[in-house]
Amino acid sequence: MKFFIDTANLEDIKEAQTLGVLDGVTTNPSLMAKEGITGKDNILKHYLAICTIVDGDVSAEVISTDFDGMVREGEELAALHEQIVVKLPMIADGIKACKYFSDKGIRTNVTLVFSAGQALLAAKAGATYVSPFLGRLDDISTDGMHLISEIREIYDNYAFNTQILSASIRHTMHVVNCAKVGSDVMTGPLSSIKGLLKHPLTDIGLNQFIEDAKKMQL
Ligand code: E4P
Repeated sequence: MKFFIDTANLEDIKEAQTLGVLDGVTTNPSLMAKEGITGKDNILKHYLAICTIVDGDVSAEVISTDFDGMVREGEELAALHEQIVVKLPMIADGIKACKYFSDKGIRTNVTLVFSAGQALLAAKAGATYVSPFLGRLDDISTDGMHLISEIREIYDNYAFNTQILSASIRHTMHVVNCAKVGSDVMTGPLSSIKGLLKHPLTDIGLNQFIEDAKKMQL
């Protein structure tokens, strides 16, 4: 399973990259706004900065909600850097734009997916990635992980190439469970990646080894 980090924060991206397990980055308008990035030039520069840190796909989301606007923005984003994947919302014009980009060989990520039917449509339109929002479903007391399993089953039934990019990850068990059900990618905050390191028995064991190593008089 690929690990993407879901942030526009350059320090977090650098830290995940340094760990050596990062395969890509996803951003969205909320994450960009959180970093205080304003104005088109600064937004494009920020995407370029992300592309220089990480050696992998970087999802950049369009703001427009109409087909022409999405095509215009998406073409500009895709031309920015070969690592850019155009992120499109799961609405009718987004699906039309997805088909347009896929026919042109431009990679896409269909976002804001909350049902298996939406994921099926995205795959039919040739999406490179589909982003089901696991955490937001869990937030409203529905089973987000069940959706990931449903999409896996549907995509496997018909050998769709669209990759399941489990998004809206909140914690380490989301990451582990995504891997168990065969998600192709997970995207989460740095804490969900670093949290995988933690186990008290690892710390206790290492402390013991360090103490015993002192007796070896190296
Ligand atoms: C994914 O592409 C989205 O940017 C993201 O995962 C949404 O996560 P949130 O529900 O934590 O905002």
